[in-house]
Amino acid sequence: MPKPVLLLTRRLPEAIEVRAAHDYDARLNSGDEPWYQDGAEIARRAAEVGATGILCAAGDPMGAATIKALPDSVKIIATFSVGTDHIDIASAKARGITVANTPEVLSFATAECAFTLMLMAARRAGEGERMVRAGKWEGWAPTQLMGVTLEGKRLGIAGFGRIGRELAAMARGFRMEIHYRDLRRVPAELEQGATFHDDDRGFLSSIDILSMHMPGGDATRKWLNAERLSWMRKGALVINTGRGGSVDDAALVEALISGHIRAAGLDVYDGEPKVFPGYLGLENVALLPHLGSATIETRDAMGQRALGNVDAVLLRGMAAPDGVG
Ligand code: DGY
Repeated sequence: MPKPVLLLTRRLPEAIEVRAAHDYDARLNSGDEPWYQDGAEIARRAAEVGATGILCAAGDPMGAATIKALPDSVKIIATFSVGTDHIDIASAKARGITVANTPEVLSFATAECAFTLMLMAARRAGEGERMVRAGKWEGWAPTQLMGVTLEGKRLGIAGFGRIGRELAAMARGFRMEIHYRDLRRVPAELEQGATFHDDDRGFLSSIDILSMHMPGGDATRKWLNAERLSWMRKGALVINTGRGGSVDDAALVEALISGHIRAAGLDVYDGEPKVFPGYLGLENVALLPHLGSATIETRDAMGQRALGNVDAVLLRGMAAPDGVG
């Protein structure tokens, strides 16, 4: 029996590529060549090799046009990400193609990244690092680069899914007070004493730090706009490790310049890898290159999980455990 053909759009951790090549007729993107940026090219390659599965990644253009152009042989699109906003799930469903993601395994790493940004923004770590590297540090001074502590602050988590709840668990260790906003309240055992808010204004005006963990897409597009920023307390912090499109960048830059928002920490951007130019000259924003899940352990686990989904559909003729839509 020939092995099913699996097209991998991106370079993946070695153990994942080895497993893929062992279990499938795997077509790797060994040089991480940029054809994955072009949906028509992904579809062309899938047709050329007769792919039955596609293992893609966050940001690959798997929209309606790409999915329409895929050959009938494709049965599963397994994304190496928890986010699925780059995939038109309805179009895939209409063509009978399973879509699956990699939830759970990246929650801790992504929360860790949000916490890193929170500390960087609160303690002005990026500014300090730049000062030292630039040879501008003239020694300890009583008033130098004073930030704010996290201890006792009210942390507002927008999107209280697995990642948001991991962040809450970390924040409790810093003696922070946890508030959250989501479409609905979670059960008490998941809430762990966090305060639920059912309206944006009440939520945003109650907190000192906002950490965003919302899915991308139309429903959350530019959610953090000028009006919502104006509801936040003066001197609040904004952290985003969800999706860049959820922030109105011009409005956030204005709030950072005026000081209404003390500092921000961003890991995600609208139209990545483009970064809104207004951020680049500001000292009070920490910018990371979408590192949320980027630990060796997590990326391996994501790869195993993505292949587990492919295995279920292509090797066992079952539903993908992490099927979405
Ligand atoms: C995801 O999984 O959606 C992240 O954004 C990439 O790790």
